[in-house]
Amino acid sequence: MRAILTTALLTLTTAFSATAVAQETEVTLIHAGKLIDTDAGRVLTDRYIRIEGDRITQVGSKAQMGDIDAADTFIDLSDMTVLPGLSDAHVHLTSDANAHGYKRLTRSTPRAAITGVRNAQRTLMAGFTTIRNLGAPGFADIDLMNAIDDGDVIGPRMVPAGRSIGITGGHCDNNLLPYETRQTAGGVADGPWAVRAKVRENKKFGAKVIKFCGTGGVLSKGTKVGAQQFSFEEMKAIVDEAHQLGLKVAVHAHGEDGINTAIRAGVDSVEHASFISDDGIRAAKRAGAYLSMDIYVSDFILSEGEAAGILAESLDKERVVGKKQRERFQAAVKAGVKMAFGTDAGVYPHGQNGRQFAYMVQWGLSPMQAIQAATINNARLFGEDANIGSIQAGKFADIIAVDGDVMDDIKALEDVDFIMKGGKVYKR
Ligand code: ARG
Repeated sequence: MRAILTTALLTLTTAFSATAVAQETEVTLIHAGKLIDTDAGRVLTDRYIRIEGDRITQVGSKAQMGDIDAADTFIDLSDMTVLPGLSDAHVHLTSDANAHGYKRLTRSTPRAAITGVRNAQRTLMAGFTTIRNLGAPGFADIDLMNAIDDGDVIGPRMVPAGRSIGITGGHCDNNLLPYETRQTAGGVADGPWAVRAKVRENKKFGAKVIKFCGTGGVLSKGTKVGAQQFSFEEMKAIVDEAHQLGLKVAVHAHGEDGINTAIRAGVDSVEHASFISDDGIRAAKRAGAYLSMDIYVSDFILSEGEAAGILAESLDKERVVGKKQRERFQAAVKAGVKMAFGTDAGVYPHGQNGRQFAYMVQWGLSPMQAIQAATINNARLFGEDANIGSIQAGKFADIIAVDGDVMDDIKALEDVDFIMKGGKVYKR
């Protein structure tokens, strides 16, 4: 049977570009043995999902669904656990995990874009139907998003940052080569008006989120993870300008001064948050800021990082940061701070994003909370909860399924068996 999509659905506004919707729409019906309701935090049994075009139009029991046989396609997932498509709040699709440090310098921006095509596919095929790309050279992530939206390549929905904004010589600059080469990363700016201009420029060229570096980092040369980068005035200028333009702000911050100052400036999420203090945890709670703590990646850096080109000084930093970050994650969970799911994929290989779930459960989240972090929490952080994050009528049909019970075995999310994005099946 063919159904006419209601105008209410057609006029839903979204930051994600609207896919062309034909007047006559395919109807798909999914039978879910178990369905994870990420809004309510509970597991439902024996539910049906009706999909028309790229949206979910109805969720309910068999009795509630009306004429089930009338669907064009019936997908039987009655022996599986069905959940909303996963999301990752912190990835770099254009980065290759095999090329760190000086190896990265051999990669042009066109090559980074090609790398992004491969990684976008790997990410979607791991069950991640939406990602936030927190920094890419030369706006390569914007073009990747456009290519995915146009159907040229396969990948997740993207919320791209364009160029990460940072101080001269900071974590978001490029400090590997001597002065004569005049290497400066595209997002470098100093002073309140200069950083405002960078925000405006990023927006002009298609950024949907703003990322800036508020402290030194592990993988950058010559920066200290504990040292704040940007003054309060500069951070405030970035946040005010971004919010005025309708963009959320993510700050890269390991050390407590940078974290506290960025929260005071009004950031929406703190990435890494490795040394967050008890004061910082309280401030994040009060401000409603999300923590996006990448507590898996340390294991990759310390085991495979050297071969991939990560600098010796970075490995030294990681030995301190990785352990501390997990302890502070546990403290933040205990305090009830809002948790996003962000992994820094690109540092480690794309497609392995799901490995972080087990770490989040080991360090204090319940399996349901870990799943909520990667679905409804991220959706709210992205300002996209009208479109993604749960299986509800009106949202995109971004739906995945796994064998077995994720509540017993969270590692089931490392191997997703069924993947649908926008009503289209990518894996079955
Ligand atoms: N991009 C981050 C940085 O260079 C990676 C930090 C990874 N380590 C960690 N324990 N999360 O600072």
